[in-house]
Parts: sequence; structure tokens; C-alpha cells
Amino acid sequence: MGKPGYGGVWIVRDPIFGDNGKARVVDHLTADPRVQAVFRWQGGDNAGHSVVFGNTEIDLHAIPAGVIRCLERPVMSVMGRGMVINPQRVLAEIERLRAKGIPVSPDNLLISEGAQLTLSFHMALEAAREAGAGKKGTTKKAISQTYGFARMYQGVRLGHLRNMDQFVRQVTPALDYTNAILTGCFGQEPISIDQVVAEVEACREQILAYAGNEIPYLNSILNQEGVILGEGAQAGMLDHDLGIYPYGTASNTWPGSIQSGVGVDPSWITEDYVVIKAYITRVGPHGLTAPMPERLATLIRERGHEYGVTTKRPRDIGWCDNMIGEFCATVGRGTKLVINKVDVLTNIHPLMVCTEYRAGGQVVDFFPTVVEDLDHITPVLTEFAGWTQDITGVTTWADLPENAQRYLEAISRPYQIPLTMVGTGPERSQIITL
Ligand code: IMP
Repeated sequence: MGKPGYGGVWIVRDPIFGDNGKARVVDHLTADPRVQAVFRWQGGDNAGHSVVFGNTEIDLHAIPAGVIRCLERPVMSVMGRGMVINPQRVLAEIERLRAKGIPVSPDNLLISEGAQLTLSFHMALEAAREAGAGKKGTTKKAISQTYGFARMYQGVRLGHLRNMDQFVRQVTPALDYTNAILTGCFGQEPISIDQVVAEVEACREQILAYAGNEIPYLNSILNQEGVILGEGAQAGMLDHDLGIYPYGTASNTWPGSIQSGVGVDPSWITEDYVVIKAYITRVGPHGLTAPMPERLATLIRERGHEYGVTTKRPRDIGWCDNMIGEFCATVGRGTKLVINKVDVLTNIHPLMVCTEYRAGGQVVDFFPTVVEDLDHITPVLTEFAGWTQDITGVTTWADLPENAQRYLEAISRPYQIPLTMVGTGPERSQIITL
């Protein structure tokens, strides 16, 4: 791991279903002056991160959360070629950040010219699917359509916008294909090439101002002994190949995919932060193996503000799941564990942890590949005593009640890596560093 005497890659990612508070860990780590760039390597604006500092709350979708550090020192944000970019929405996000006083410009934001573009026809296809029997409960940002066309060699890269003749040549077969589906399968009006060209012309110059090649840029930082920080957007169990297909997302989310996502060799990774929280949440169907009773779920949803940042959907709430922890320890163990939102569980008695799955009376020894198999497992729950003391804002391990310490140790164990941070509230300062 890593190359002695050189810089390194730090990764921050979530091994479960997302929404575990990665952005606050990214924010914490970018305080280190060695971090020169924060990059994203997969997904698009299906992600939603909220970062709170002072009285300001900032929501981020496609742009890496590290951009907030620009208020204090120069840090570059990089959106890699493994991402899918909706140019109009990225420009709108830049404007929203500027309105909150965060100075985003081509000096501190680089978007890979290799990133695939999400255009209105991708959006129309997803909207049609999500309105019918093929609905998957996505974030409705046309993520799978954009990756799907890219895989069929009919995608459009940001760099294609530099030459509109090339763009039209590239996009026409994709549009013909889309129109055949829109009209033939969904009874909708076709979308004309003029419409698509007009949509692109309206934002082409502005978005191209950010375009460049992230591969030499990021690798030159590493060769000059700097640190680059990779922000995983979608979580491990949503990975297209390793997760709960077909209810996960369309990209690869585990750290090894930085190679195709930004052209950085994963052997540069020196720190890999695995971020979970003190319970599990899921937006979208399938995957939650040990749901909490609804009364408790409602309480935690309100206390923990468990509503999607992107979709505003209420998140389903479940107990921590050792089978997912063991899956993570096998597939991509990471180096450091972070547990957020432990304060949310104060005064809940007893706490449960899913320690095993059983199916037909037999122990299931590994997380199932076929997601429907999860519908037939029975979670085995182990009870833990809760605590009553309000722990919001606690900053030392010794100040946590013993039962909280015991619970945190129990949910950490399957990950097989040291617990190094515990979040005790949403503020930047409400964190225990071990
Ligand atoms: P898509 O990525 O919009 O295609 O959605 C596919 C599935 O992944 C849906 O179940 C979404 O709810 C879920 N998903 C995608 N991005 C996120 C995220 O950032 N947090 C939580 N769930 C997500």
C-alpha cells in the first residue's frame, strides 16, 4: 500500500447504503495541509451530502464536499471521468455554492473531459421507466441511462462538447435509439436533435471552462509527495457488481475503482476511512435486513433527520448488521473505521445488532449475491443495553457512558479495523478522535 517517500491517496467511503456522514469526515481531513485535492471518481448528482458549519448548512450533490475548505486555503476539487455529469445541474450547483459564499471557479474545480454527460433524453428515458412497471426507486437523475449509453459506446464525454460536429455525430445514434423507445414503448413524443443541441449550446462554454485531464493533474500531486483525498459518493452495497443489483446504482463504488474513475493506481492508497453510523438507513427498495419496529424507526428518523438530501424521501431505518461488516472486511477492508450519529441512539432500550442471518433454519455464511434471497433470511438479533446520558457534542472516549462504548465496540468488530472517529453531533467540532 502506498509508495514510501511519496504522497498518497486517502479514501473516505461508506460500505453500506449511503448517508452515513462521509462529508463531515472529508471536511475534517481536508484541514490537513497535505491534502491538495479532493476528488470524486464515480456517480453523479444522485449523491447528497449536507455539511454543517456554524449556522450554515450546505448541500452538495455532484461537487466534492472538499470544496468547502476553499474558504480557508486553496484545495482543488476534481470530478473524475468515472462520473456522470449533468452540465446544467452542475452549473446550478456551482451558483448555489457561490450564493453561500463558497468561491467556485475553474481555479479550484476541474471536471474531467472524459466524464459522461447526462442530457435531457437520458432524463426522459428514466422518467418513463420510473413511472411504469420497471420502476427501481432511483434518485431520478438518469444515472443508469447515462452509464448504460456509455457502455453501449453511445455516450457523450464532456470533451466532445469542444467540437459540435463531433458531438452531433456522437449523439445522433443515441438519440435515435432513445426516440424508438420513447415513442414505441412509452407512447411519448420524440426529442429532436435541434432540441439537444440547443440544450447543450446554452451551457457549453460555461461548463467547458472547467474541463481538463484529471489523470496527469492528480498523479503529479502524488509524485510531488502531496495527498489527494477520494470521496466515495455512492456506498459499497449499492455497487453495480458487488451490491444489491438491480436496486443499487450503476457505478462501481469500492476504492479499487479509482483506477478507472480518475486514472490513479489504487496501490497509492495509504488511508481508507470506512464510514458507518450507529444504525443503518436505506432509501429505495430492498437491502434492509433488520428493520427497526416502526415506532422506533419514526423516532430515529426525526432525531437523525433521516430524509434524503437529494430526493427528500424518508429513509428506512434498521439495526446495524454484522453480515455487511464482514462483507466489507472481505471485499475492501479499509484502514480506519468512523461511526457517526451515536448521539441519536440515546435513551433507546434495548439496542439490537444483527449478528447472523438464518435461512430455512441454517446459518447463512456470507452476504447473498441475489438480492431476493435477502427476502427469505431471518436476522438473528443480539441485545445491548442502551444509555440515558445525553452525549451530544462529547469529544473524548472517556466521556461516553460505558454502555455506549460497549455498543460501539460491538458494531465495530466485524469490520476488523481500528475505530478512529465517533461523531456525536452534526457540527464540525462534535467528534471524538481516537
Ligand atoms: P440511482 O443511483 O439514482 O440510479 O439510484 C439507484 C439506487 O441507489 C436507489 O435505491 C437510490 O436510492 C440509491 N442511491 C443512489 N445514490 C444514493 C446516495 O447518495 N445515497 C443513498 N442512496 C443512493
